Amino acid sequence: MSAFPLSRRRVLQLAGLGAGAVAVGGAGWGIGAARSADRLTPARTGAPLAEPPVLRSADGVLAVTLTATAGVPLAGRSTRAFGYNGSAPGPTLRVKPGDRLRVRLVNQLAEPTNLHTHGLHVSPEGNGDNPFLSVAPGATFDYDIQLPADHPAGTFWYHPHQHPYVAEQVFSGLVGALIVEGGTELPVSRERVLVLHDTTLDGEGRVVPATSDERAAGREGDWVLVNGQLAPALSARPGAAERWRIVNASASRVLSLRLEGHAWTQVGLDGSALPAPRQADRLLLAPGNRADVVVTAGAAGSYRLVAEPYDRGTASMGSAKPASATRPVELATFAVAGVPMTAATLPTALRSAPLPTAAVTQRRRLVMAELPAAAGSATVMPSMSGMAGMDAMTAGGMSFTIDGKVFDHDRVDQAVRLGDTEEWTVVNASLMDHPFHLHVWPFLVIADSSGAPLSGSLQDVVLVKAGGTATLRVHFADVTGRSVYHCHILDHEDAGMMGLVEVTK
Ligand code: C2O
Ligand code: CU
Ligand code: CU
Repeated sequence: MSAFPLSRRRVLQLAGLGAGAVAVGGAGWGIGAARSADRLTPARTGAPLAEPPVLRSADGVLAVTLTATAGVPLAGRSTRAFGYNGSAPGPTLRVKPGDRLRVRLVNQLAEPTNLHTHGLHVSPEGNGDNPFLSVAPGATFDYDIQLPADHPAGTFWYHPHQHPYVAEQVFSGLVGALIVEGGTELPVSRERVLVLHDTTLDGEGRVVPATSDERAAGREGDWVLVNGQLAPALSARPGAAERWRIVNASASRVLSLRLEGHAWTQVGLDGSALPAPRQADRLLLAPGNRADVVVTAGAAGSYRLVAEPYDRGTASMGSAKPASATRPVELATFAVAGVPMTAATLPTALRSAPLPTAAVTQRRRLVMAELPAAAGSATVMPSMSGMAGMDAMTAGGMSFTIDGKVFDHDRVDQAVRLGDTEEWTVVNASLMDHPFHLHVWPFLVIADSSGAPLSGSLQDVVLVKAGGTATLRVHFADVTGRSVYHCHILDHEDAGMMGLVEVTK
């Protein structure tokens, strides 16, 4: 269960300095000409949207093998990107409350990996949703995850949690949707799963390692893929109501989604239904967030699904903004044609997960900040055995910290009593947004300095704006054990912006 020892070579590769890595000068953000010359060109855009294979539980059990390998098709090209069972995203897992999810993870990569079931309210111990496990190259591990009978229905996802390889592995395609079925029945003609992840491939189809500056900002890919496809086509008849489960599985990119000519009707956020359907023109999904929406196809025509520019700040004063701050991305087209259907009427109330109502027993304040690497490393590096003297915990010359410390899997940062309801105020003392994520125990956001509308439902990722705060109420119910909270800009998590929470009886 100890951290996989990183070789010096591997650490250098993670830092973008390994043999074979192209040295990119101080420019950092280069979707520029110099770098784009060595990029894979997509073979196919505009193909009908395909969905990953679906694996569904039967008789209370879903037993699957997920083999992590390099070599998956993306955008119609064969690539050296990673995937599960030969596809990126991997298969969509569908379970019900009370089911047992058994996953045999086979690691055919040349680096350690593991598996996290993001958002599930399940045990983080043993061979459950345990982020501290490590599955060595060539090894196999059997996860066994028991969902409680009253587990909320919603959209979840899975991805590796191998510290500090998470950004690289997710960016390389190790992502997949995980759906807990149930909840309010919706009058829709079909359901779609849209897993959005971005990546950058070189001329040989290999995933391009991030530079140190890109790791500081949070790497973004040249391609933003929908189920591994570039700009696929969706089609529907006018008036058709469809449920889309959208997963932001990108390593760092905040998605501000707009569907031309249509308003979103959001019915779910993360792993819970909203209390009631909510209309909006934009859907803002931080990395790790999911949204369930109902789209009612409008008049015949062709409409683009677009990720609008979103400015999430910069790692340091004066550094260049990520491309997503200014460049809109066309993700898909929605072609509406054929015989019109009668639009369905949605229920006015939805069955959402129960909210924490008990009195708050403990208040905590967590400060997310970037500190000069020297300061952060002086206090922290000695405990990072296996990485002594390495630069793995810094990016762009900075340490990414919570409460002034980088992650240490041997240090309990928050000791919580089972059954307690706590209020956590997450403070972002930096120049860029940090999406805060807590494993296992979902929370209700009760205040958000950004003025963003509160969901009124349980969620597990909240985007804390640069210089802002978010206050969460968490009921540490049912489940004991150690798990983590962290920034879901995965480069920041890898650089140490993560803490350990332990819930005991
Ligand atoms: Cu989406 Cu700690 O994870
Ligand atoms: Cu998670
Ligand atoms: Cu962050």
